[in-house]
Amino acid sequence: MTKQYLLAGLPDRKPDPLLALLKKFASNERLDKIDLGVGVYRDGTGRTPVMAAVKSAEHHLWETQDTKSYIGPEGDPSFVSLLTHEVFGEGTVTEKLAGVQTPGGTAALRLSAEILAHDKDRTIWIGTPTWANHNAIFGTVGLSIKTYRFFDPRSQAVHVDEMLSAFESAQSGDAILLHASCHNPTGAAISKEAWSAIAEVVARKGLIPLFDNAYQGLGRGFVQDAEGMLIVLNAADEAIVAISCSKSFSLYRERTGAAFVLGNSATDLNKGVANFAYHARASYSMPPAHGAAIVAAVLGDPGRRKLWIDELASMRSRVSEIRTALADRLSIYAPRLSAVAGQEGMFSLLPVTPENVTHLREVHGIYMPDSGRVNLAGLRIEQVDLASQAIGELL
Ligand SMILES: Cc1ncc(COP(=O)(O)O)c(C=O)c1O
Repeated sequence: MTKQYLLAGLPDRKPDPLLALLKKFASNERLDKIDLGVGVYRDGTGRTPVMAAVKSAEHHLWETQDTKSYIGPEGDPSFVSLLTHEVFGEGTVTEKLAGVQTPGGTAALRLSAEILAHDKDRTIWIGTPTWANHNAIFGTVGLSIKTYRFFDPRSQAVHVDEMLSAFESAQSGDAILLHASCHNPTGAAISKEAWSAIAEVVARKGLIPLFDNAYQGLGRGFVQDAEGMLIVLNAADEAIVAISCSKSFSLYRERTGAAFVLGNSATDLNKGVANFAYHARASYSMPPAHGAAIVAAVLGDPGRRKLWIDELASMRSRVSEIRTALADRLSIYAPRLSAVAGQEGMFSLLPVTPENVTHLREVHGIYMPDSGRVNLAGLRIEQVDLASQAIGELL
């Protein structure tokens, strides 16, 4: 009998290119190197600090937490309830929602993918380009994926027309993936009129919007960043929202997020939550407690909540100051890049080639992925001129 082996038969998997880039950056000894790669917020000194509101919450937890016993696959209900009110406000949408705590936005997307994939005939529509992990998450559960062009980095144009015509060709029950705000990797913003047009086609055709909400508060404002999503949720019969607290609370490694279903009845919502819990139980069992306990201790305390709102506002204004300055300088070399100023969040997608990216890294010590996605928070204001010149000369 011939032996069958496991490991040699596995597919080759390349490491995440952004993590590989991070390693390259760390091994370069240049003092003036600039990291525009990994998608974390950095302050004016290049650090990703723990927020003061988070530190205060941790102190409070250290003093008051009296058990580490199991909590269950749905996670902490007080975290879910406080986050619901913060993200969705007090309108009718909030009454039509139910959710569970998840290990970050990634697990919220994965649970969402699992329940969508229950119907093997369902397609999910994804605009390109998008966060690379989307294809992996939805592909892994066996959903069929159809794409349409959302953004063109050459012209910096958002193709709402192509998005709407893709949705017109979708079947009732198909899912459409939407970035709630601060689109990764493009920063492209959608107008209120476009959100209304999306809402109209969602309601008319019976599509299921799945919102990836990973950067709320880093665009125009915490409340403003949810406005487009709320327009669609108000119109939809059913929807899913995957929330990440990684960026808006700077909690990255604490793995904090939530998955919500929007439905027509308490029975349907209970079913949605029970199915989230089933898939959670079958993979990670239950979410880690610490990050969610922090968020609950921030949102549930007026003093800490105010501190968090102010800190988030200053993160947002730093990114938007860099954005305005970068757009101003880059548009000298390529006028179409003045569009960068109207984009939102930490990212923009520059029209550079992989050869340009290698040149920037080797000659100027500027690091970005081959796609040309730049994390604006990686720049200090005094580096904008230098970086714009190095990039601009290649455009
Ligand atoms: C668009 C998008 N969605 C979801 C996530 C997941 O975030 P988390 O670290 O909370 O899993 C990220 C993280 O980079 C992201 O960029």
